[in-house]
Amino acid sequence: MKKVYFLLTIAALGINVHGQKTVDQKVAELLSKMTLEEKVGQMVQYSGFEYATGPQQSNSAAVLEEIKKGKVGSMLNVAGADETRAFQKLAQQSRLKIPLLFGQDVIHGYRTTFPVNLGQAASWDLAMIEKSERIAATEASAYGIHWTFAPMVDIARDPRWGRVMEGSGEDTYLGTQIGLARIKGFQGKGLGSLDAVMACAKHFAAYGAAVGGRDYNSVDMSLRQLNETYLSPFKAAAEAGVATFMNSFNDINGIPATANQYIQRALLKGKWNYKGFVVSDWGSIGEMIPHGYSKDANEAAEKAILGGSDMDMESRVYMAELPKLVKEGKIDVRLVDDAAGRILTKKFEMGLFDDPYRFSNEKRQKEQTDNPENRKFGREFGSKSIVLLKNKGNILPLSKSVKTVALIGPFGKETVANHGFWSIAFKDDNQRIISQFDGIKNQLDKNSTLLYAKGCNVDDQDKSMFAEAVETAKKADVVIMTLGEGHDMSGEAKSRSNIGFSGVQEDLLKEIAKTGKPVVLMINAGRPLIFNWAADNIPAITYNWWLGTEAGNSIADVLFGAVNPGGKLPMSFPRTEGQIPIYYNHYNTGRPAKNNTDRNYVSAYIDLDNDPKFPFGYGLSYTDFKYSDMSLSSANLKGNQTLNISVTVSNTGKYDGEEVVQLYIRDLFGKVVRPVKELKGFRKVFIKKGESRKIDFNLTPEDLKFFDDDLNYDWESGEFDMMVGTNSQDVQTKRINWIK
Ligand code: GLC
Repeated sequence: MKKVYFLLTIAALGINVHGQKTVDQKVAELLSKMTLEEKVGQMVQYSGFEYATGPQQSNSAAVLEEIKKGKVGSMLNVAGADETRAFQKLAQQSRLKIPLLFGQDVIHGYRTTFPVNLGQAASWDLAMIEKSERIAATEASAYGIHWTFAPMVDIARDPRWGRVMEGSGEDTYLGTQIGLARIKGFQGKGLGSLDAVMACAKHFAAYGAAVGGRDYNSVDMSLRQLNETYLSPFKAAAEAGVATFMNSFNDINGIPATANQYIQRALLKGKWNYKGFVVSDWGSIGEMIPHGYSKDANEAAEKAILGGSDMDMESRVYMAELPKLVKEGKIDVRLVDDAAGRILTKKFEMGLFDDPYRFSNEKRQKEQTDNPENRKFGREFGSKSIVLLKNKGNILPLSKSVKTVALIGPFGKETVANHGFWSIAFKDDNQRIISQFDGIKNQLDKNSTLLYAKGCNVDDQDKSMFAEAVETAKKADVVIMTLGEGHDMSGEAKSRSNIGFSGVQEDLLKEIAKTGKPVVLMINAGRPLIFNWAADNIPAITYNWWLGTEAGNSIADVLFGAVNPGGKLPMSFPRTEGQIPIYYNHYNTGRPAKNNTDRNYVSAYIDLDNDPKFPFGYGLSYTDFKYSDMSLSSANLKGNQTLNISVTVSNTGKYDGEEVVQLYIRDLFGKVVRPVKELKGFRKVFIKKGESRKIDFNLTPEDLKFFDDDLNYDWESGEFDMMVGTNSQDVQTKRINWIK
């Protein structure tokens, strides 16, 4: 406890001595005028009356009254120039006229939606990811939004967890780079710019490690694993100046994140010296009661403020209990001053005290309602997110003059489904979305025919549409199947124990395959699915995720070859749920399997091949890339030198294309066991057919560091394998020695 007050004193001094002097003094002056209730009011966030993304408690009339009394600091799910202006006017009726912050889940685009985040991660294109958030911020801020609850930087190794769709997959390095690109995109030229929104690193922390992939479930792991795998993206986000954090619903080693002083006080606000603020996730302060960590709201409020949660999203516990706790002397008012101060600091930085209505601008909103430039980018980004898993006999790309194409499957004519989960600002614009059918139709020659049959529903046992689908397939020269999981079958509270094709989709595929027609399978999903029969029997397979507003055009651009797919999987795809968790950067164990079928007293299952169906980093192209001449600047290094690793990549196929060249390392021996591979770099390169590119990577000892059992973060002398390749399995390896 003393440590908490000590940290606060330093922080308080920091506000006056080291930090942004002007803002800090303004905050201090304002705090000195505020009543305790007004300070706690800044720590309260309610949801607007639409788009509730959690158990809705908001009573609109009472909330509006609280705003007028200065007892609300922020609203989420209030958007639009008119609506934000109206709410801001209510806040201007309060005694101190402190403006509201408006937050919303701008997760993968706003008015223009982009691929679901796991699909974006499959592009491995940091520049496009950053640009997509720049566009999202421009559109959202034009709708009066100050703050997005993104990026989600939860590392996740379990595809049963539905929220893998909004993250960057299983790898800490890739997830960190993508998280940083998103923050740069959202915050742009800096808080206060009219097209910048505050970003929010979430969910702090280790939410993706929920036991069994069951949402909201417990997390229990060593502090070493927590720091090495799950906290690194958050630490990087804090260092990059992310405006806010959001904590997570789960308990970590028995203590709910909302009250977890280790992650929020000792690390985030202490060691990492973070100056932004932490918002609780929806109702999570109150949820410490069902967690069994607080016996009532009063104890929940006490533990949450001690734990470093600054703003209470929708649990109403802070307003009800914090003033009492301070008046009873159980909570030091300095904790409230620090939390309210952090929130007020962001409001000053956003320029809201200068002009509370500066983001509520009808003209700007109109410009960003259906921006064609943003759609054009979305179309390109969608194509870049598609992963080509199989193309036996080079069925793809298709010719635009193919006489008759049959599109079969439950997603072919879907519109809003293409947005995927976590798309908010589209409810009025079904007509703006390019369906798969329309996208394909747009590109086929005018004397070609596009047939369509739904074939089956997404998730029931109805086979009554099979016959029509089979008849449709028989009339076609090529069949494009569109199967997978519904857009609302991944996302929050969407854990699945079975991640195969739902309903009778696989039965339909088998019936269509029996016609003997060439079949291209497109898979729509927000997570890795299991589709072994298709993977073994269907000649061409693309993994399309959910691609957003321009989905149909993005897909057609790939199907007909305008874009040569270059996506790579950001997660390992299991053969069965029984393999989960399965991830590439595992430890070797004392009895590693020698190969895929080794069963002889080794760490393996006796009833299936040990490797994933498709490995991390995997993705094909319409062309072929050959790797040669891997070389190292030295095989023996000492101290703080730089190691250069180079490789030549040649495009030996018939199409220009993009390749993601991946660099992995292995630390062969350590004071704790080390993963068999760790991604430490990647280059997405465009290589024309017949040309070659020399690709360079540079590593320093910083890249070799890891957490040991005493949580020291350092590197050790020893042998290391350097590996470069097209995915986490197909690599070339060279060994080096690096002495401290
Ligand atoms: C949800 C989600 C969180 C989101 C918040 C506000 O429950 O967990 O990611 O930002 O509530 O919608």
